[in-house]
Amino acid sequence: AVLADYEAEDATIVQGVVESNHAGFTGRGFVNYNNQTGSYVEWTVNGPGAVDLTFRFANGTTVNRPMDVTVNGTAVASGLAFNGTGAWTTWQTQTTRATLAAGENKIRATATTANGGPNVDKLIV
Ligand code: GCU
Ligand code: CA
Repeated sequence: AVLADYEAEDATIVQGVVESNHAGFTGRGFVNYNNQTGSYVEWTVNGPGAVDLTFRFANGTTVNRPMDVTVNGTAVASGLAFNGTGAWTTWQTQTTRATLAAGENKIRATATTANGGPNVDKLIV
């Protein structure tokens, strides 16, 4: 399949801010999730198909920042791990599998702890 980048800074952001102070991001920046449960980024991706959802992220702490991933409101991964990457400028990927419906799909990654999510650069589908 041909992969495409969906920048977090172009997605719908709830309880997060676009920043660019940690190098290594693509596009104009990344989303700094507010450090609270429930903060999320939601991307719109066209389907249908069985796909890998690959999140590019950085977590400069040593503590996992798990997130729930939903597609059109249905859970596809609960507490997906976004472990420490060693530095806020060290970006890694985490992937989960999902099936997209025909047409527009809303893919949401929601922080499940009071630490919020990691910094998220983009979703690759
Ligand atoms: C630091 C860092 C932010 C990050 C935050 C966090 O403030 O500069 O980019 O989002 O830590 O712990 O979430
Ligand atoms: Ca943050």
